[in-house]
Amino acid sequence: MRLDKFLSNQTGLSRKEVKELLRRGGVTVNGKGEKSADRQIDPEKDTVLSGGKQVLYKPYIYIMMNKPVGVVSASRDPKEKTVLDLLAPEDRHRELFPAGRLDKDTTGFVLLTDDGDFAHRILAPGKHVPKTYLVGLAEPVTQACVDAFSAGMTLANGEVCRPAELTLPDPENRQVTQVVLREGMYHQIKRMFGACGNRVISLKRTKIGNLPLDQNLEEGAYREILHKELEQIL
Ligand code: URA
Repeated sequence: MRLDKFLSNQTGLSRKEVKELLRRGGVTVNGKGEKSADRQIDPEKDTVLSGGKQVLYKPYIYIMMNKPVGVVSASRDPKEKTVLDLLAPEDRHRELFPAGRLDKDTTGFVLLTDDGDFAHRILAPGKHVPKTYLVGLAEPVTQACVDAFSAGMTLANGEVCRPAELTLPDPENRQVTQVVLREGMYHQIKRMFGACGNRVISLKRTKIGNLPLDQNLEEGAYREILHKELEQIL
């Protein structure tokens, strides 16, 4: 990889800023000063320092975002604000995209990454990575609805859902439920409750795999997912 590309990818500096940094003599490769932007390096083996500090190589990044209402989980949209618009300018230099979709009015855990293979593995229908949601309902949930979720229900258009878990975090309040899905059909939770004669009034994704959304993240905020946390997803 070219040295200027490596520095720009890993630090968020623009190519122009990297050129200036190199010109000023701020960069060493394996202990020797390096000024050429097109110097080829092996990011896995070569040690690059900028201003005396090692530039660590992260081939991919993984971000956990708490999506607010009103933002679409797409990479771009002609009219709507997207999850990528919520990133700080210094976090926009990688080609991040959301791994999976939440509706515009759904809040909670969206995973952004530039690792296409990882995203594919989370989304692949055959993998059945569980996704957990907190669901506010217009009407108290009935036992018949709980049973229909666990049996695997048929939606109004004939689509058949895999069995899903529906539980009550507070048994005193049957209008708040937790649902775990192992697939992701269009508007699935809304349509499942619709098929039970109920209506979703709020929906938040709280977990992907076994990794919960960080409770300290305000809506619209995000943080990097730690390496060891990735193992909780797949
Ligand atoms: N089910 C829905 O209906 N909407 C979402 O955003 C996610 C799951």
